[in-house]
Amino acid sequence: MTDFNPLATYKAILEDREFNLISQYINTNFGIKLPDHKRIMIQARLTNRLNKLNFNTFKEYTDYVFSKEGKILELPHMIDVISTNKTDFFRESIHFNFLREVALPEIKELPSQKINIWSAACSSGEEVYTIAMETDHYLRTNSHKDFSILGTDISIRMLEKAKKAIYPIDSIAVVPEIFKKSYLLKNKDASKPEVRIKKELRNKVSFLWHNLMDNDYAIHQEFDIIFCRNVLIYFSKEDQKHVISNLCKKLKSGGYLFLGHSESIAHLNFPLKNVSQTVFQK
Ligand SMILES: C[S@@+](CC[C@H](N)C(=O)[O-])C[C@H]1O[C@@H](n2cnc3c(N)ncnc32)[C@H](O)[C@@H]1O
Repeated sequence: MTDFNPLATYKAILEDREFNLISQYINTNFGIKLPDHKRIMIQARLTNRLNKLNFNTFKEYTDYVFSKEGKILELPHMIDVISTNKTDFFRESIHFNFLREVALPEIKELPSQKINIWSAACSSGEEVYTIAMETDHYLRTNSHKDFSILGTDISIRMLEKAKKAIYPIDSIAVVPEIFKKSYLLKNKDASKPEVRIKKELRNKVSFLWHNLMDNDYAIHQEFDIIFCRNVLIYFSKEDQKHVISNLCKKLKSGGYLFLGHSESIAHLNFPLKNVSQTVFQK
């Protein structure tokens, strides 16, 4: 009898050297930790890239991806397959109650003409459009202020999806009926069970590639509200500190920072007050 080796079920095996090269590069540059127990997952996800590029080994793949040409042509694909992009409309819905009941009523009273919101690590855009629906609905009935939302991520594939704003019909089950009527358009072709976010709402949002691990954020704007949810869980404590410190600089005084429900910064020393479940005010 031979020992069962789950890694051996693939054409090429991700050995220590190549796994370490990939995990160190991803960790240093993008903050995402790739501990050894993720190796099978990474091997499985990257196997498609090897097949596509006609490589037989991960050595050939890493030689290419970290070459001058590979960093331009292949690295974005590697980031796409390695990043975990799970997201939903109205994910962690308690945050949207807080947005509607506390944050927007307070911010609409400020002198500035426009409310600026940032969804940093927006994946395929569901978070951005959830915030957009809530904010548009609130402002239409309570104020004449305008708003804009910036969505950023390191996954080009996710940003493309977010820009298209087309989603499977099943994914909008949680969206309130009134929002469905106002902001979503069903595909007329019944064989395609999908919806698109209406243009008026899409016009309020923009998407940009941005790495939260950068030292200086090339986003020359301050925000009233920042959502940075379900990304810091993949980072070390040190990198979380680095990111929160940068986000603090981009948050207006009195502005709100929303983190994911399992992300705590209670142990860190920032000019932020914990005002609700993983919601902080500067
Ligand atoms: C699990 S999704 C969370 C999406 C959304 N915020 C939510 O809570 O539903 C995490 C996203 O963070 C992005 N991400 C990971 N590292 C990043 C980094 N260094 N800078 C910006 N985005 C990053 C991933 O590409 C992925 O789309």
